[in-house]
Amino acid sequence: MVSFTLPKNSRVRDGKVWPKPEGASNLKEFRIYRYDPDSGENPRLDTYFVDLDDCGPMVLNALIWIKDNIDSTLTFRRSCREGICGSCSMNINGENTLACIRPIADFAEPVRIYPLPHMEIVKDLVPDLTLFYAQHRLIEPWLKTDTPAPEREWPQSKEDRAKLDGLYECILCACCSTSCPSYWWNQERYLGPAALLQAWRWISDSRDEATGERLDQLDDPFRLYRCHTIMNCVRVCPKGLNPAKAIAGIKRLLANRKA
Ligand code: SF4
Ligand code: SF4
Ligand code: FES
Repeated sequence: MVSFTLPKNSRVRDGKVWPKPEGASNLKEFRIYRYDPDSGENPRLDTYFVDLDDCGPMVLNALIWIKDNIDSTLTFRRSCREGICGSCSMNINGENTLACIRPIADFAEPVRIYPLPHMEIVKDLVPDLTLFYAQHRLIEPWLKTDTPAPEREWPQSKEDRAKLDGLYECILCACCSTSCPSYWWNQERYLGPAALLQAWRWISDSRDEATGERLDQLDDPFRLYRCHTIMNCVRVCPKGLNPAKAIAGIKRLLANRKA
């Protein structure tokens, strides 16, 4: 029989229970993943109580409140606080989402916050996205043309521009790729839904002249065909995009090309 040994740091132990804020009557409990790979210690779940009467409505507000009022060592990424930069993606009560646009009230108590799953962790809620960004770079996310550039701009009809709706809005938050089981097991070789959605965005652009080259890049059993249409990516995308449909579009073009 095959036996598996889990890596030591996959065991999350109970952490510190921080004192409740004095005088607060409207508290909500948060259990938050804490991990410092340099410490040699296992990850732990720390418990914090947030005074909702003194805190903004979103989960990101609660994290900032904890950092300001209880524990300044809590580490997470954020920038825009309005669902545009993609920095604050994390797993809240089992769901990959953006902390800045999800109300605390959406989540049952205790609110359990982990980093995006199946990624190396830099610290606490900050995953290492080096590979994720390299995959985006690999699909060459820019306009590629042979025709000399026009003097003013590349024209595009309204109809052709509309074909990019549902694609250009991606904020590269990685919620989709890190919810995809195929990506969990093969992220060294499978590009994942975010990079593939971007590949489709450039293939779909009427101004781009590198469709054949782009398809050649993707025609690979791992880069593209590890998508098994499990659809987790569609369910979690905080921008309401549909990476699975984009992947199906690429597969369809490749199939037509071979026919
Ligand atoms: S549809 Fe494809 S990319 Fe999306 S979660 Fe499933 S396997 Fe991953
Ligand atoms: S497709 Fe959606 S979930 Fe995936 S990276 Fe883009 S915005 Fe995030
Ligand atoms: S802080 Fe920018 S998306 Fe949440």
